[in-house]
Amino acid sequence: MFDIKVFDDMSTECKLENMLVMLEGLIDNDDLPITKLCNASALINALIGRINWCGFYLAKGGSLILGPFQGMPACTKIEMGKGVCGTAALKKETLLIEDVHNFEGHIACDAASNSEIVIPIVNDEKLVGILDLDSEEFSRFTDLEKVYLEKAVAILDKYVNWKNII
Ligand code: SME
Repeated sequence: MFDIKVFDDMSTECKLENMLVMLEGLIDNDDLPITKLCNASALINALIGRINWCGFYLAKGGSLILGPFQGMPACTKIEMGKGVCGTAALKKETLLIEDVHNFEGHIACDAASNSEIVIPIVNDEKLVGILDLDSEEFSRFTDLEKVYLEKAVAILDKYVNWKNII
């Protein structure tokens, strides 16, 4: 059973530490790779808070294809180098965007989104996907969350078999 209320009185850092422990607990098993990403998106969505979209795009044939997520329906295919997701994927670096309207080429899937963070997932030096979080708040994402989301991606990298995931 998952009870979000137990996190109510925790500091942000404590909550983020718990997110990592719970993530590892959820995916250190024989579940299918895609199943692990489903639960990962649900966990991160529940624990980060004040976000309207949280999910994965997976690399296939030079594009990013919509994977497991929480939120409104989203664009299904993003070309490498396009939008915040495609740019983070191409550069293989996290992009923390305080105001998406100032990011040239931003792809608006949910018109309500105002800030965004995209963390690339790199396995054996190969880009396998990205983790994307959107918020209706401007400047929603902090450097601390960036650090922990990158740690979450490192855990995913370890426990998910990315080969032929889609
Ligand atoms: N805003 C992203 C597109 C994906 S959605 O936010 C779910 C981008 O600019 O790449």
